[in-house]
Amino acid sequence: MASTATGRHEFLGDKTIREEFTPKTRPDDISFEKGLRPQRLKDYIGQNELKAGLSLFIEAAKKRKEPLDHCLLHGHPGLGKTTLAHIIAKELGVGIKCTSGPVIERPGDLAAILTNLQHGECLFIDEIHRLSPTVEEILYPAMEDFQLDLIIGQGPSARTIKIDLPHFTMIGATTRAGLLSPPLRDRFGVILRVDFYSEMELKEIVIRASRVLGIKIDEDGAFEIAKRSRGTPRIANRLLKRVRDFAEIRADGIITKDVAHEALILLEVDKNGLDRMDRQILLTIIERFNGGPVGIDTIAVSIGEESHTIEEVYEPFLVQAGYLQRTPRGRIATEKAYRHLGIAIRG
Ligand SMILES: Nc1ncnc2c1ncn2[C@@H]1O[C@H](COP(=O)(O)OP(=O)(O)OP(=O)(O)O)[C@@H](O)[C@H]1O
Ligand SMILES: [Mg+2]
Repeated sequence: MASTATGRHEFLGDKTIREEFTPKTRPDDISFEKGLRPQRLKDYIGQNELKAGLSLFIEAAKKRKEPLDHCLLHGHPGLGKTTLAHIIAKELGVGIKCTSGPVIERPGDLAAILTNLQHGECLFIDEIHRLSPTVEEILYPAMEDFQLDLIIGQGPSARTIKIDLPHFTMIGATTRAGLLSPPLRDRFGVILRVDFYSEMELKEIVIRASRVLGIKIDEDGAFEIAKRSRGTPRIANRLLKRVRDFAEIRADGIITKDVAHEALILLEVDKNGLDRMDRQILLTIIERFNGGPVGIDTIAVSIGEESHTIEEVYEPFLVQAGYLQRTPRGRIATEKAYRHLGIAIRG
């Protein structure tokens, strides 16, 4: 391995290796990502079926001069839901107001947001599965009939008043569609699932981001990063940033296949995009639990990680890439996991 203790320190600064690969937003992603977000549907790479459907709905709505149906975007963290929400508003030529489930604490908060919307505008609610039930109830008539039922006063003198709302388009985003209550889900006319990206699509995303950031990279260098990005644009962009740092210090600033390869070794991400934690999860299942099935909580205790972090951050990619199987009896390491780690399967 080309990494030395000092080399890694110089390269990573004070960041821990693990942080690089969580698909969730980190504080330093926010301004960086804003600049990288594609603005129009034609610049949004991949998700071809989703884009085809969406552009049809958008065209139809524009033709009828009506607001678009409410849209629900669901998919794992970092796949482009927020990006897509902004693109939808842009393509419709309307404004967008953004909030998120946990921020709206009381029904009054939501009422204030709704009554301030313009006709046709988009309301983006991120993490919509985290709305409180009382707030959610306000949302039903608002989405269905563009009406607000407000209760004024308390006790016997309480009364309900109805307020007409402007026709708006609700865009909800969630990483956990399964946690959405059925009545809320039913009020979305368009449900779009954002999927993991292919290596070729991620390569294009890396090349596009390099262009935006003024980074010199060749196709093979971009592909090397793409292959290890766990199907996730956010990780691809983040790795690009780290590899660029390496290229500036160690190489002449140009990211080639070799430069990317060497940088990624320092980051401890292997040739299939698995990081140290992924390998530890698989090794634990194989070596300590004979390949499984083993419950998620048991795995979590064994490696000293929260079980929901394993479920949300590591497992989706491991399952999607075929290293791990989820069964009702627990997690099982697949043949591919044994092969990847170079361990013989015991009969
Ligand atoms: N299809 C795409 N083409 C190009 N870049 C993309 C695409 N999708 C996402 N990205 C990039 O990935 C980054 C993360 O995307 P985004 O913030 O939209 O993800 P998200 O699904 O909203 O994540 P979260 O669930 O954490 O909110 C963006 O900054 C954007 O640059
Ligand atoms: Mg988001």
